[in-house]
Amino acid sequence: MISRYYSPTRVIFGKKAEEEVAKELKLEGAKSVLLHYGGSSAEKSGLLDKVRNLLKENDIKFVELGGVKPNPRLSLVREGIKLSKENCVNFILALGGGSVIDSAKAIGYGLYNEGDVWDFYTGERKPYGSTPIGVILTLSATGSELSDSSVITNEDGNLKRGCNSDFCRPRFALLNPELTYTVPKYQSEVGTVDIMMHTIERFFHSGEGIDFTDKIACTLIKEAMEAGLKVLNDPEDYDARASLMWASSLSHNGLMALGNDQRGDWACHQLEHELSGMFDIAHGAGLAIIFPAWASYVYKENPDRFSKMGSLVFGIKETGEEGALKTIEKFKECFRAFEMPLSMKEAGIELTDEQLEELLDKATFYGKRTLGAFKTLEREDMKRIYLLAK
Ligand code: NZQ
Ligand code: ZN
Repeated sequence: MISRYYSPTRVIFGKKAEEEVAKELKLEGAKSVLLHYGGSSAEKSGLLDKVRNLLKENDIKFVELGGVKPNPRLSLVREGIKLSKENCVNFILALGGGSVIDSAKAIGYGLYNEGDVWDFYTGERKPYGSTPIGVILTLSATGSELSDSSVITNEDGNLKRGCNSDFCRPRFALLNPELTYTVPKYQSEVGTVDIMMHTIERFFHSGEGIDFTDKIACTLIKEAMEAGLKVLNDPEDYDARASLMWASSLSHNGLMALGNDQRGDWACHQLEHELSGMFDIAHGAGLAIIFPAWASYVYKENPDRFSKMGSLVFGIKETGEEGALKTIEKFKECFRAFEMPLSMKEAGIELTDEQLEELLDKATFYGKRTLGAFKTLEREDMKRIYLLAK
């Protein structure tokens, strides 16, 4: 059993971390920077102006591209590649949450490699490098600030696809928990679910693992859950925001799978990506819909794996099937506490038979893949899970 852990991102953590931006860009030899951001939150909070000023004061040349939407779109990525080429950009600075970072990663691929960037997301070709990126994080959720992953939605067919490679891991991540004080309640809730799910998915492998990693993993899930609940009552609880931010980064940089036989299961994420790609719901909300359905469908494969997590996260004493079922119930309670939908209906999605088939076509890559590691899912299994989640 071999597992690989590679996390090269320099992390600068704490209050005012964003003020290190010019120093970090200079360290990276950034000559011409693309400053990439989302809708209005960074402008409103004053962060964008602060960063603009820091770059100007330090004579760092930059161009800007804002407007990244949640579930980031391919068309803006293409615009970013064009703008960056015109301005000889050699470094991309992402200022925002997962969508902005993922969009920056895609621009990095498109800038560095020949041909159409979408090929890397369909899996048709693999990138052989990326223009480097750095991050100022404003939302704790996806872990994209340290991850090897980027997820983009192609508006042509509403196809949401990921590309994974070490090339896109950010060179640096400036993590100031105070920058997340303004994150709206709902966004904090879906973000917390996502953080928890990145570790939950890694826990459910089917081969060997190590107890130490299981214990770190369950501590992360518990801490994220508790911190997530705290910020709902007090959005400016520094300690809770800091726990969430660090949990976000550690949950998805690979550490939580060290010693595990596979990278994890990931069926919930794959099934969810098709859901948010088609219906434009928040990723964390989609995960809250899919996970209980997936868990109740697969737990019999190894109930003790579920009850171990239940014991370490919730203090559940029962083992075997009883423990597994209690664990699933506890996660549902937790997602309810985060005001998540637990079914598509609750998210306002009335799934038609036609849409179900479309989800299945997309999730199976039109018959070319199965999903999962804890239990391998064929198309029929996926159908049952989507129906349970309906
Ligand atoms: O656009 P603005 O105005 O900035 O508002 C954003 C956006 O509306 C707002 N926001 C961000 N920081 C804020 C803030 N509002 C107030 N104050 C702040 N400090 O939050 C909204 C959501 O932002 P978004 O970046 O979309 O959220 P998130 O970080 O959850 O990213 C979700 C995307 O990441 C993908 C998801 O599928 C989804 O597309 N994922 C990426 C992963 C990766 N690259 O490793 C892994 C994940 O599993 C996930 O799939
Ligand atoms: Zn996720």
